[in-house]
Amino acid sequence: MRIGSRLPFLIAAAAYLSAAPQEGIEKRIDSLLRRMTLEEKLGQMSQSTEMASPITDEIKRQIRAERWGSFLNAGSASDRAEAQRIALKETRLGIPLLFGRDVIHGYRTIFPIPLGQSASWDEELISKAAREAALEATAEGIHWTFAPMIDISRDPRWGRVAESLGEDPYLTSVLGAAMIRGFQGESLNRADSLAACAKHYAGYGAAEGGRDYNSAWIPEILLRDVYLRPFRAARDTGVATFMTAFNTVNAVPATGNRFLLRDILRNEWKFDGMVVSDYQAISELTAHGYATGPRDAARRALEAGVNMEMVSTTYFDHLKSLLQENLAAMKDIDEAVRNILRLKFRLGLFDGRQAAPSPPHGETLTTAERLATESVVLLKNDNGLLPLKKTIARLAVLGPLADSQADQMGTWAMDANARDVRTPVAALRELLGNERVEYTPVWKNSRDSSTAQFAEALRIARESDAVLLFLGEEANMSGEARSRAFLNLPGAQEQLVDELAATGKPLIAIIMAGRPLTFHQTAEKLGAILYAWHPGTMGGPAIAHLLFGDSTPSGKLTISFPRSVGQVPIYYAHLSTGRPPGPNDLGTPMGTPENPKDYTSRYIDLDFTPEYPFGYGLSYTTFRYSATRVSAATLGSAGSVIISADVANTGNRSADEVVQLYVSGPAGGSVARPVRELKAFRRIHVRQGETKAVDFSIRRSDLAYYNNRLEFSAEPGTYRAWVAPDSSRGIPIDFVVK
Ligand code: GLC
Repeated sequence: MRIGSRLPFLIAAAAYLSAAPQEGIEKRIDSLLRRMTLEEKLGQMSQSTEMASPITDEIKRQIRAERWGSFLNAGSASDRAEAQRIALKETRLGIPLLFGRDVIHGYRTIFPIPLGQSASWDEELISKAAREAALEATAEGIHWTFAPMIDISRDPRWGRVAESLGEDPYLTSVLGAAMIRGFQGESLNRADSLAACAKHYAGYGAAEGGRDYNSAWIPEILLRDVYLRPFRAARDTGVATFMTAFNTVNAVPATGNRFLLRDILRNEWKFDGMVVSDYQAISELTAHGYATGPRDAARRALEAGVNMEMVSTTYFDHLKSLLQENLAAMKDIDEAVRNILRLKFRLGLFDGRQAAPSPPHGETLTTAERLATESVVLLKNDNGLLPLKKTIARLAVLGPLADSQADQMGTWAMDANARDVRTPVAALRELLGNERVEYTPVWKNSRDSSTAQFAEALRIARESDAVLLFLGEEANMSGEARSRAFLNLPGAQEQLVDELAATGKPLIAIIMAGRPLTFHQTAEKLGAILYAWHPGTMGGPAIAHLLFGDSTPSGKLTISFPRSVGQVPIYYAHLSTGRPPGPNDLGTPMGTPENPKDYTSRYIDLDFTPEYPFGYGLSYTTFRYSATRVSAATLGSAGSVIISADVANTGNRSADEVVQLYVSGPAGGSVARPVRELKAFRRIHVRQGETKAVDFSIRRSDLAYYNNRLEFSAEPGTYRAWVAPDSSRGIPIDFVVK
């Protein structure tokens, strides 16, 4: 029979099958829940990280006793397979285990850290990388990743900016959704689907002083308009789980926060996924001075809506007695278990889900190199110093980060083999041959302040035609609990640049770091600067090909770079103030207070602008933007306007460009609005000499924000739009929203 005549039936059957398990799931949960004992329920609500490899008899005993519903960051693929076999075959109800892991920016193959990935502004590629990470992880029996991290942060002192997608809520919403689609794939019940986790809910990036785990004080209008937007987008994308944050939000810990977890997440957003605490965050409610002890912590986290407890054991230890004293409600326990079982059913774990087949390694390395290439941001390139010519006779390569496989992967790379990492030194030697590349690390690590190897470094530099200086932070200076009070280049890096400058050789810096650093004076001595973040497994080839022009830098910053840590918090979507600094406030010299003048919002000892603004990034070609155009002078409640501009490639090389659309306004509304906010972007390829018209369709709902009555809407008034290369430039045009 021809397939065509069966097609309607096949479509209907597919629709039924995809729907039936969903409806069937609730019935299957009900039937299971009715049969579960209280201990079995509390076991499901508990996640352990203890699973020595090979699994100990004690762990096997606990699994048989249904002590745990999930394990995280534990064991090998075979350990997990054995643990699952026991859970399915040797327990009373055969409830499968859920295996979670921090697959943050790759599993075996490591992609650039998320802050680096975000600088590519390449939604599809970021999604592809997440998909390939899911293939690698699910092939080893992992079901769930604790990613994407979609905390907004405007404070590079906070080490976890490395895991973020930058300072902008819109960009983080788009790229976070791309990661979720990548991780989860078409359907959660496929063998290669990795349940994603929107974290850390919420406000973690607003930790006071940039100090990790610190208090966050966020007015509700800001909480909703900035910090919650990416989480709402994650929920709308179908993210399977949320993770509660360590911090307090307005003095109430996120992990005990009814307002966040029930009022907003469940009642407003109708989220029906599962909520897990962060690591021991429930027991930490006591350290917060919020709970009176572990028993009270369990009561408050359950009541607030945390379904699964990560690592601490307050639920298992105390909920039974709390129930007996009517201090906890069985309905809350049943709701938590229902959410956990629903995730396990959706993942197909009750229906014999097996580990997926291993993906082809080669494809992932190609993706890793492409994403690393697109993530690198060219910050400076005086007189076209880059790209270098492959005919160069001798290249000096200095600094430990030029050849550090572990550091190149950055934070959260626990499952990767450092041996797989291709470093810049290896890639440069492959490209140019060993004899033309002379390398010395100069230091033991990036924090080393020794000058003992300076003479050797200067000798190599003097004998070279150009000097590649690999500067920045080693991986362990970045990520969780790695807050810094200073953002300068660590160790003796600045000093070496000063001494190298005296050689007169062309100095090219490649900075690897997990955050924006401050290097104002050093930058003045460098001919070119590439910011490579921690670029992952294929960072070496990516950097080598960029340096020699096989590829062209296209990355754009997704976080503002301060001139000094004294400017933090610094971000582009700020309010204007009543005394905005103006052009004559620019150029204030760093550090030496000049004779104070003016009464504007500026510093008397530093230029108030960022060193490099949000959206900034150079290319090996140049682009010229026309004035912004709008298709209609007014925008009503329905319909849309087209906002556009022409982008001309005025240089001598075809290249990609990330075109950004910013909008501000309106004045006259119920609140002052930021000087501009990103509303859309597009990565385009423009051939040498070509001009491309780029247009964005904007509806009124795209302009919505929270007003002073906490209503989400675009208030009427005059708005201003820029189609621009970054957040500091563009020729704007006004239009009216009726
Ligand atoms: C950590 C992190 C969280 C991570 C979890 C499991 O403390 O805060 O992002 O997913 O614990 O490792």
